[in-house]
Amino acid sequence: LFLLGRLIKVAGFFFFLVEGGESQQSTYKPQIKTHPETTVALRGMNVTVTCMAVSSSDSPMSTVWRKDSEILYDADIENFVRYQQQAEEALEYTSVLHLFNVNFTDEGKYQCIVTNHFGSNYSQKAKLTVNEMPSFLKTPMDLTIRTGAMARLECAAEGHPAPQISWQKDGGTDFPAARERRMHVMPEDDVFFIANVKIEDMGIYSCMAQNIAGGLSANASLTVLETPSFIRPLEDKTVTRGETAVLQCIAGGSPAPRLNWTKDDGPLLVTERHFFAAANQLLIIVDAGLEDAGKYTCIMSNTLGTERGHIYLNVITSP
Ligand SMILES: *[C@@H]1O[C@H](CO)[C@@H](O)[C@H](O)[C@H]1NC(C)=O
Ligand SMILES: *[C@@H]1O[C@H](CO)[C@@H](O)[C@H](O)[C@H]1NC(C)=O
Ligand SMILES: *[C@@H]1O[C@H](CO)[C@@H](O)[C@H](O)[C@H]1NC(C)=O
Ligand SMILES: *[C@@H]1O[C@H](CO)[C@@H](O)[C@H](O)[C@H]1NC(C)=O
Ligand SMILES: *[C@@H]1O[C@H](CO)[C@@H](O)[C@H](O)[C@H]1NC(C)=O
Repeated sequence: LFLLGRLIKVAGFFFFLVEGGESQQSTYKPQIKTHPETTVALRGMNVTVTCMAVSSSDSPMSTVWRKDSEILYDADIENFVRYQQQAEEALEYTSVLHLFNVNFTDEGKYQCIVTNHFGSNYSQKAKLTVNEMPSFLKTPMDLTIRTGAMARLECAAEGHPAPQISWQKDGGTDFPAARERRMHVMPEDDVFFIANVKIEDMGIYSCMAQNIAGGLSANASLTVLETPSFIRPLEDKTVTRGETAVLQCIAGGSPAPRLNWTKDDGPLLVTERHFFAAANQLLIIVDAGLEDAGKYTCIMSNTLGTERGHIYLNVITSP
């Protein structure tokens, strides 16, 4: 007899179960109705993993939880049982695994095993992923340097998974230094270099640290200093009396230099025939007279220094 099946007692009645035979037998075993679900949590959160099983027998059920196939002995588990006299699924059994203040070590695959007198059933394995928002370990600092020098900006962040670091300039991804291959990013070092700095490199550099849990950014301003210089050589001018003379002094430098003009090493007497344009880079003299001829000096200065250049204006009478 015992080779063919088992005699069992359910709800006060005896049943004879033929192993692998009667379909009724399988519903006596726990049937997993709710499997634990794949969960993504932030570190520090409380997570619950739930399993629900039913059985058409009233044999008490019990649960064991496993993480990565290892039994969790000290787990915080709550079990609920519901008994339904009439229903086909006589017992409904819920097991809730509580994970408090989750950390990365809690990551893994969780599974419940529900057992009663008739056998065991294994739930699907549910993956728990614990993430952490990036946080900065190093943020770039504001930098003021001269043209030609090397700019070095540092940025490092931690998080789970390890955050990706990316850079922006003035909120975009156009780096003049990258186009000219003067820019170097050292991924292991979290350092961002700009070699042979130019005025166009000036701006706000944002370091962004991003992972699946979120992102954050830190800004640093790069200020580039350059002594004033003439972008174009100064040109002497000859105009016929009554014509308009335009004297050009195109200035470079950072901060942008301020421009002044003098005439014959003295103050320039500005009349209604004198006009300045383009931030004083152009001196326009209309209806030039013989008295306008002479040596004009363009003086440009910024915080780093002063530069001057001369333009000789020659006024000739018409033939
Ligand atoms: C386990 O439960 C599932 C329903 O979730 C059921 O299909 C399966 O037959 C059960 N396994 C056993 C061995 O009873
Ligand atoms: C997690 O649960 C504990 C205990 O119930 C509670 O004190 C704590 O505030 C909970 N934490 C969060 C983030 O909900
Ligand atoms: C979380 O785990 C990390 C290592 O994985 C550990 O350094 C840290 O102390 C843990 N935090 C808590 C709150 O347990
Ligand atoms: C950082 O710089 C970007 C681009 O210049 C700007 O949009 C953003 O508001 C700045 N963020 C902070 C926190 O200053
Ligand atoms: C430019 O001119 C202004 C007014 O004439 C004077 O105050 C200033 O000192 C001058 N700057 C230079 C660099 O000569």
